[in-house]
Amino acid sequence: MSPFQLTRTLPVDATDAALRADVLHGLTLPQGLDSARPGGTPIPKTLPPKWFYDARGSALFDEITTLPEYYPTRAEREILQTRAPEIAGATGARTLIELGSGSSEKTRHLIDALPGLHTYVPVDVSESALTGAANTLIASRPSLNVHALISDFTRGLALPGTPGPRLVAFLGGTIGNLLPAERSAFLASVRSLLSPGDALLLGTDLVKEESVLVSAYDDGAGVTASFNKNVLTVINRELGADFDPDAFSHVAVWDREHEWIEMRLRSLAAQTVKIPALDLAVDFERHEEMRTEISAKFREDGVRAELSAADLKLTHWWTDERARFALSLSVAR
Ligand code: SAH
Ligand code: AVI
Repeated sequence: MSPFQLTRTLPVDATDAALRADVLHGLTLPQGLDSARPGGTPIPKTLPPKWFYDARGSALFDEITTLPEYYPTRAEREILQTRAPEIAGATGARTLIELGSGSSEKTRHLIDALPGLHTYVPVDVSESALTGAANTLIASRPSLNVHALISDFTRGLALPGTPGPRLVAFLGGTIGNLLPAERSAFLASVRSLLSPGDALLLGTDLVKEESVLVSAYDDGAGVTASFNKNVLTVINRELGADFDPDAFSHVAVWDREHEWIEMRLRSLAAQTVKIPALDLAVDFERHEEMRTEISAKFREDGVRAELSAADLKLTHWWTDERARFALSLSVAR
């Protein structure tokens, strides 16, 4: 059995520096009023969602994918199971790069459909997710080269030199966790990895009934609430902060204007949280809400336009039978 390669493209302290910068920026900059909002509501504190995913956060996400309310994983798996041969035929990929690969569980359908696949490059910030996925994969496909990258896909990627054609997969609807401006910068950076004829396989969750969406992000068993609060545990451990996760409640709301779900943590009381590594004390008012994730939902025209703006031409659009989720294939021109 061939051992997989694991490359950390960021030094360990770069991750630490990035967390410090994100926490400092997200918890201290929001002062004053947002003139774009009616009545000039206060600008909310924010934390970027990539910090959910330490080993516990990755395990909680995997649990979310099995919940009855969380349909996106099942819907995308259905599309992959049905369409993998078409995707393989259209791309003839020899290198499959997967961004935010997590457990790589659904990707197996794609890998199994690509007979000429030379190397699989899973990319994730979560080392535990990468090693778990790579070990499982090479156990069943010992001849496949697996070159895992611990890397932040929003910060530009240095990919190993492997044979083309390249197929970049970005599954699960994770693109919806980026803000619109971040999405366009991200798609431009993906395009820069591709040569003409290479392709992007993109998973996007679709706009649907509000009650279905909100339930998917506020499940009855409280797993999403634990996932949301895990970001506080990460900050406590990494920056010595004293967030009490029980002093916050999980909130999921549908933002009709932006067509995204917003996950927030609501402070149950007025409180001050100390973050010694930043020499910072952060005040929360009673019922103040801090945004921890957006999860944008899409329509076909919007996806086509965003891809086109990044010089990617949408060639295929597949949905599950109930049209809840879409996979699109686009090619670099
Ligand atoms: N693609 C999988 C996992 C989705 S969960 C699926 O469809 O089920 C999102 C994954 O993206 C997590 O594994 C998380 O660690 C990773 N991730 C989130 N932000 C990231 C970033 N900026 N760079 C790299 N990986 C990131
Ligand atoms: C990873 N990402 C696509 C998930 C989503 O649905 O936005 C993360 C998640 N957040 C809450 N539940 C799942």
